[in-house]
Amino acid sequence: MKTFNVYPLLPVTPVSAKGAIVTDENGIDYLDFYGGHAVISVGHSHPHYVNSLKTQLDKIAFYSNAVQNPLQEILAEKLGKISGYEKHFLFLCNSGAEANENALKLSSFHNERKKIIAFEGSFHGRTSAAVAATNDLTINAKINLQHEVEFIPLNDFGIAEKKIDETVSAVIIEGIQGVAGVVEPTIEFLQFISKKCKETGTVLILDEVQSGCGRTGDFFAHTKSGIEADLITMAKGLGNGYPIGAVLIAPQFQAKHGLLGTTFGGNYLACTAAISVLEIIEMESLQKNAELIGHYLHSEIFQIPGVTKVSGRGLMIGVTLEDNCAGVRTQLLNEHHIFTGSSSCKKTLRLLPPLNITMQQAELFVKAFSSVMKKQLTPAN
Ligand SMILES: Cc1ncc(COP(=O)(O)O)c(C=O)c1O
Repeated sequence: MKTFNVYPLLPVTPVSAKGAIVTDENGIDYLDFYGGHAVISVGHSHPHYVNSLKTQLDKIAFYSNAVQNPLQEILAEKLGKISGYEKHFLFLCNSGAEANENALKLSSFHNERKKIIAFEGSFHGRTSAAVAATNDLTINAKINLQHEVEFIPLNDFGIAEKKIDETVSAVIIEGIQGVAGVVEPTIEFLQFISKKCKETGTVLILDEVQSGCGRTGDFFAHTKSGIEADLITMAKGLGNGYPIGAVLIAPQFQAKHGLLGTTFGGNYLACTAAISVLEIIEMESLQKNAELIGHYLHSEIFQIPGVTKVSGRGLMIGVTLEDNCAGVRTQLLNEHHIFTGSSSCKKTLRLLPPLNITMQQAELFVKAFSSVMKKQLTPAN
């Protein structure tokens, strides 16, 4: 049997990784400025993460949600404390798409409406309603298009004012849009849609799957707007590579046995992975590190000729060039052994390194990127 060919693959075969370094089968080290798509939060193979998982694996790896699992309570308490959402409740699942699917479903159970407002450029995952709320027709099959979704422009107050009304079940918005090329809703816009949602009984879902877990320097990208979302979805960095998804649920949502469910969600290993990630973020002040190194990268990259825009916050950075960025990414990979991410905007590359990246590694990146850009701007003779 062959694998179903849906991914364009980089010509690299990693066999081990440590911190921000990924080593391939030929012993070549790569600097990971992509973080496996914002998944690697506390660094590859962090000793506390590895030891916690090994210890748990020796005890019990899995049982379903038919029994009591105190690790879920420990994780809920830790997540509440670190995020400031102590009154919210926690539902655990396995991925970002599943978290958003459950959030959209819960909204509809709650207000018995079905219309969804999402934003141009959005990405929320590939399951039924999550992909329907994703602004990309190429990944929506006919079966997904039965959902009632309207896409409106980000940061457009006038349209949001008109469209968010008593017929809308949920507004779903990314803390910072990732796939679109690191595009940020303004603080004022988040505050405005939060107010509109409250006035109309619409559920506000903050998708922090990519922008959450400390990546921007704040635990959630929307934290600095001061709003409180009804539902917050998480995945990626929460497990540092161990699959886990989460929905943080405001107290007004009524839980009922059987309302939501999953076989694997919240299992012992997933909880252990997430608990150790939160412990490492706190022990090593990784939100502070993300802010500091992010600030350095933003200001240095902005000065490099050929760069037209640097967007995002902390270690979620979009770098927009004058032209298509594919050649620059290839050169960074082949000549400097550095991973970067792409985006749906052809001119924008994404930087999503682990939160414990060092200043030395950041400097190395800036040097390499600068030399690639210089080469690009020098006409071949
Ligand atoms: C903002 C956002 N939401 C949801 C998802 C889907 O997450 P998953 O791939 O874990 O289903 C992604 C994945 O890239 C994402 O960036």
